[in-house]
Amino acid sequence: MILGVDLVGIEQLLSANHIAILPKGTRLDRSTHGPFPLTSGANLWVSRPAFLTYLHLKDVLATIRGLRSVGAGVVDMIRAADQKILFETPKQRRAMAAAGHRQVNGVDLVKMPRMGGLVEVPIELVASEYRSHVHDYLRPLLNSGRYDAMVELGAGPGDLIVTIARESRDTTIKFIGTEISIPACGCMLELAIAAGTPLLEIRRLDLSCPDLSFLSAFRRPLLLTSGVLCVLQPSPASLFDEILSKLPRFDLVALEPVSFEIAERDSRVRPLITREQYLSQALIPGLWPFLEDWVRCHGMIVERVIPDFSGKRPIHPMSLIHVAK
Ligand SMILES: C[S@@+](CC[C@H](N)C(=O)[O-])C[C@H]1O[C@@H](n2cnc3c(N)ncnc32)[C@H](O)[C@@H]1O
Repeated sequence: MILGVDLVGIEQLLSANHIAILPKGTRLDRSTHGPFPLTSGANLWVSRPAFLTYLHLKDVLATIRGLRSVGAGVVDMIRAADQKILFETPKQRRAMAAAGHRQVNGVDLVKMPRMGGLVEVPIELVASEYRSHVHDYLRPLLNSGRYDAMVELGAGPGDLIVTIARESRDTTIKFIGTEISIPACGCMLELAIAAGTPLLEIRRLDLSCPDLSFLSAFRRPLLLTSGVLCVLQPSPASLFDEILSKLPRFDLVALEPVSFEIAERDSRVRPLITREQYLSQALIPGLWPFLEDWVRCHGMIVERVIPDFSGKRPIHPMSLIHVAK
């Protein structure tokens, strides 16, 4: 039985793309940490269904059940998800319509970014599509023989790194998931065990003042962020200084929703997210100018920049930025 919780955010739970696995007697409490904190001893996991269904099909998980029997606060949310009411305010509904939302034969379709273009997908698949696009990009890199480690910074519940670590079980690449939230670290650990990747290392790490000494053991690690640099307070400056001081060679693949900032420096880019949308989600501006200047000042190479590479949801598209030293 898999236990735990994904505390990454209400937005992801509302994406109607999650499955919880609930051992008997599970209780939720909102008191301590994030929107869905656990009482001590409580045991619930919420994670991406594509990954959990995959584990289920592989007989790693015995049970997959919906969340709606859990408790009052969650019932409402899941009911909303059942009805596919993802964007409840008039402003959100307008944004949804602007993003190309329509119904075909009762199926809600949205346009989501994919490799810089837009594709129409059932709304339930938006989050899992994002994960699979990231894996499609990482897979050839990890198979290239260039890297001896992959380290995800701010891995949340860990499904991205656990999935890719599972695929790469036959390689010698070391996988490390780092995260500040203890419940998310617990979630990652249980996912790693369930997925048969117990050697994936999990580290609790505060990226606002990190000690990355553990990275010195590697010749050339591949660092990954997904929706993390855009929430780092006050900025990722100390993280980037630490990376440079510890690693003579590394690659960084950053997935962050900054296409509007890329467009501000490159008039050819037509961004799918505006500065206003970005700021309305309390994200920290200035990431791309900082990153671009950092790369230039330290003689690094920009391997790929794909504005609006993919999105967790239609109004929150991620750009892919791959730099190397
Ligand atoms: C939007 S979530 C993204 C999680 C995961 N990368 C994903 O794609 O699902 C942002 C993550 O950054 C983590 N985070 C925020 N501030 C952090 C910090 N100072 N140090 C480490 N992680 C942090 C949060 O705990 C959360 O897991």
